[in-house]
Amino acid sequence: MGYITLPEFEETGYVVLDSYDQAADPQEWRDIEFVDWKSSGETRFAPLASAYGDLECNGFWHHNPPKTDKDGVWVQSNIEKAPRLKARAEEPGANIGRCRVIELQPNEYVDCIYNLHLDDNNRLNPEGTGWIVRGFFNLTDNPDSYMILREDRDDPSTESRIPLPAGTQVIIDTQRLWHAVWHPGPEPRYCLITSWESGPELATYIRARNPRSRVPNGPLSEETIAQAQAEVSRRRAAKQAASGPMADVMSEA
Ligand SMILES: [Fe+2]
Repeated sequence: MGYITLPEFEETGYVVLDSYDQAADPQEWRDIEFVDWKSSGETRFAPLASAYGDLECNGFWHHNPPKTDKDGVWVQSNIEKAPRLKARAEEPGANIGRCRVIELQPNEYVDCIYNLHLDDNNRLNPEGTGWIVRGFFNLTDNPDSYMILREDRDDPSTESRIPLPAGTQVIIDTQRLWHAVWHPGPEPRYCLITSWESGPELATYIRARNPRSRVPNGPLSEETIAQAQAEVSRRRAAKQAASGPMADVMSEA
């Protein structure tokens, strides 16, 4: 039967929307409570919606009873401090699963490539319902940082590098695309990440915001890319030798 998907994601697996002008918004991410949650580098997360409303970030499918990445429950203590972020997550009107702000410490391109992973957004998701995709709204101004996406983890020619100035809005099928963020720093980067169910509500929201399924790639030399690829291969081989093959290619972030 398959899932309900949106044609905007067919070509590349992501869409970049018109930027959001957040200059007048309070910096709510400074006030909310973060918890340690390791994902793709040195990170913490502040949950706005979790499986059952607790201040935690585990995948919904790990709870008792388990659930798919839908029907997230607002974390009261955080949404009281972040009503604007909650409103942005709700604006599409689509079903919301996990909703959280990520804090990412600076890293290097090679670390980002090593951290490329797929999300497990659609575990337990019943066929015939909407495929879960995830919105990434960049909160801090990081024009020299990039959302790195690859269709094939080990093929740099499939790489997209989407710059992340304040207000950047990208929606990504993170179960299809390998992804991680390259953030040179020097300050931490903050981003609102929301799981949405594909369907007519999300389609309307996307189509009103000039969706582009390709944007110009951020500049990066072929030499840097090749060196990173070689170093990542070396690190992976070392990890496999230590812990067995394919230790962890899926992430819950
Ligand atoms: Fe992820």
